[in-house]
Amino acid sequence: MSQSAPVHLVREAVRREKAYRVPTQTGIAAKLDQNESPYSVPADIRDAALAAVREEPWNRYPDDRPHRLVAALAERWGADPEGVIVGHGSNEITHTLGLCFVDPGTPVVLPTPMFSLYTSVMRMFEAEIHEVGPEADLTHSPAAILAKAQETGAALTVVTTPNNPTGQTIPHEGLRQLAAGVPGILVVDEAYHEFLSGPTAMDLLAEFPNVLVMRTFSKAMGLAGLRVGALVGRPELIQEIEKARLPFLVDRLAEAVALAVLDREDLLQARVAELLSERDRLAESVGAMEGCEVLPGKANFFLFRTPLPHADLRASLAADGINVRDVTSYPDLAPRDGRPGWLRVSVGTPDENDAFLASLRSHLQAA
Ligand SMILES: Cc1ncc(COP(=O)(O)O)c(C=O)c1O
Repeated sequence: MSQSAPVHLVREAVRREKAYRVPTQTGIAAKLDQNESPYSVPADIRDAALAAVREEPWNRYPDDRPHRLVAALAERWGADPEGVIVGHGSNEITHTLGLCFVDPGTPVVLPTPMFSLYTSVMRMFEAEIHEVGPEADLTHSPAAILAKAQETGAALTVVTTPNNPTGQTIPHEGLRQLAAGVPGILVVDEAYHEFLSGPTAMDLLAEFPNVLVMRTFSKAMGLAGLRVGALVGRPELIQEIEKARLPFLVDRLAEAVALAVLDREDLLQARVAELLSERDRLAESVGAMEGCEVLPGKANFFLFRTPLPHADLRASLAADGINVRDVTSYPDLAPRDGRPGWLRVSVGTPDENDAFLASLRSHLQAA
């Protein structure tokens, strides 16, 4: 008999976690469960990026940091290149934030429900997590977040706008109040900012030295498969954070494709416009079905609930090849007051959206 592995040597804060696993899926007609873009990168852009990478020495390390992409993003965002980190997806940068700002017992304020990775990463760094629940309409009150940050002396306060999984936003004035009032760092995750217009958290950077803005290429930009994210802030702060990062995290291909995609603003704008109009069509259609309720969101997804139990409905849709996300593990989105829990659907192509609507309608009628 072989001896069992010394699992007890793994830090307890890590052992307590569940690994973030997304089952491999086959036979999916409409994948509407991860807020990705339904559109891949067009063939001409792929070909150009692949041709450029083809000529590079694959046996050589890429730049320690992707300088060309950093420069392009800094120009796009009006930022100092020394104030921009490009990461292996924004998830990787979230981990770095834990490494930089969180010792055991460091107070961290996280609104709930929010993208679960933040909570998991902060737990593994043994932060003292202070959650701030939503209002009855599932928005977050900046005043409540600010009060919690001040009361706990939070070193880190994280907000996401539009928020995943609710799609709700924090108004710009609320972000300003938070930036001005939190005792520590304010991280604003803008993974879905392309779906909004108006000022963004980038506009706070000149005024507030404690603000960090997180962006990703995984949503509107359609590059979830290549893993590119970014963090922007004051150069002196970003240069400290850089020290905690592993070198070479962004490979040659990811950098080349991200640069090529950045050059095609026209395509991004056209796709965002289509996704927004499809989102509104989808939300209206679901909202018009008997007994269904929609929480209109500002990003490329929204929450809905129906008279059917959420788990049954998710399984019935999946049997038709339609994947939506069960978000009821967030307590605020679980079944409540005799209503089933919420499901989250991402906006797909018009055909995928039609398939989702047809499947939903048929299961509601059969009930
Ligand atoms: C708010 C938010 N931030 C970050 C991410 C992940 O981004 P990335 O793919 O860049 O790691 C997601 C993905 O769902 C998200 O919803």
